[in-house]
Amino acid sequence: MKVLATGFKGQLGYDVIKRLEALNIECKGVDIDDFDLTNKDQTINYILDYKPDVVVHCAAYTAVDKAEDNRELCYNINVNGTAYIAEACKKLDAKMVYISTDYVFEGLGTDEYKPDDKKNPINYYGETKSLGEDEVTKALEKFFIIRISWVFGVNGNNFVKTMLRLGAERDSLNVVADQIGSPTYTYDLAELIADMIQTDKYGIYHATNEGFCSWYEFTEEIMKCGNRNCKVSPIESKDYPTRAKRPFNSRMDKSKLEENGFKRMRSWQEAVQEYINILENNQ
Ligand SMILES: NC(=O)c1ccc[n+]([C@@H]2O[C@H](COP(=O)([O-])OP(=O)(O)OC[C@H]3O[C@@H](n4cnc5c(N)ncnc54)[C@H](OP(=O)(O)O)[C@@H]3O)[C@@H](O)[C@H]2O)c1
Repeated sequence: MKVLATGFKGQLGYDVIKRLEALNIECKGVDIDDFDLTNKDQTINYILDYKPDVVVHCAAYTAVDKAEDNRELCYNINVNGTAYIAEACKKLDAKMVYISTDYVFEGLGTDEYKPDDKKNPINYYGETKSLGEDEVTKALEKFFIIRISWVFGVNGNNFVKTMLRLGAERDSLNVVADQIGSPTYTYDLAELIADMIQTDKYGIYHATNEGFCSWYEFTEEIMKCGNRNCKVSPIESKDYPTRAKRPFNSRMDKSKLEENGFKRMRSWQEAVQEYINILENNQ
């Protein structure tokens, strides 16, 4: 099996390649220097040349707030770029993995969203990721759409790294406590992706670490694991305005994973602890 992963210089793409290499699966990680997703010919020709059996599409326009003002670029990358990848996969009869987000949902109530629940994104990034999903489902039968949330990994910037830095710089921090979801450790997700692509259990999945928390609870755990002496106080979203709206309820039901023979990931607390140990020991 030969696998191409986009977004290699990002958080998830990097860990996907590391995992595949550890399994001795032939693979290549690519980023914008190899081809620009907004360029149809470049994207399709590159993939047709490499002839992968699977494309794991991790690259995206991921700046959620900036996306509100940078709509054209965000659309070109997340919707058109995804359509080009799907077109190339169709031509090669390759499997495609499309990484999506909890932000495809409106996030009302407290119920866990199931993979087939109605989508209704409330910010532009979420809208483009949802349209990207539609491009995949329109073009292909051999696809895995994996919705994830609150991502952290060794390669790149994320909430955990920011909180560790602020925790060392400041005595106190206010963090929103009324948005509930699940952190996703790219190391754990990469393991799942590597398992999935070796099956034909196609479809839409939700995959995050186990358990739910607020950003406030997430931060408290980060400060504890990182031994930061910083007081964290809960605030409401209305007191922390952002350019893009965020869903209050990002709880996603992951039971489809085990129904199809995949292992659920460990708890988000265990994942955060291990991640912070790795970060702090590498400094
Ligand atoms: N981060 C989260 O919290 C989160 C939550 C839910 C879902 N997701 C989804 O999970 C996936 C992986 O996220 P991540 O956090 O690993 O992303 P990331 O760290 O932001 O990496 C994204 C990668 O995409 C590349 N890219 C951007 N524009 C490109 C273009 N025009 N052509 C080619 N490559 C381009 C970036 O390259 P440059 O750095 O050179 O621009 C970067 O390497 C994405 O699909 C994202 O939508 C993320």
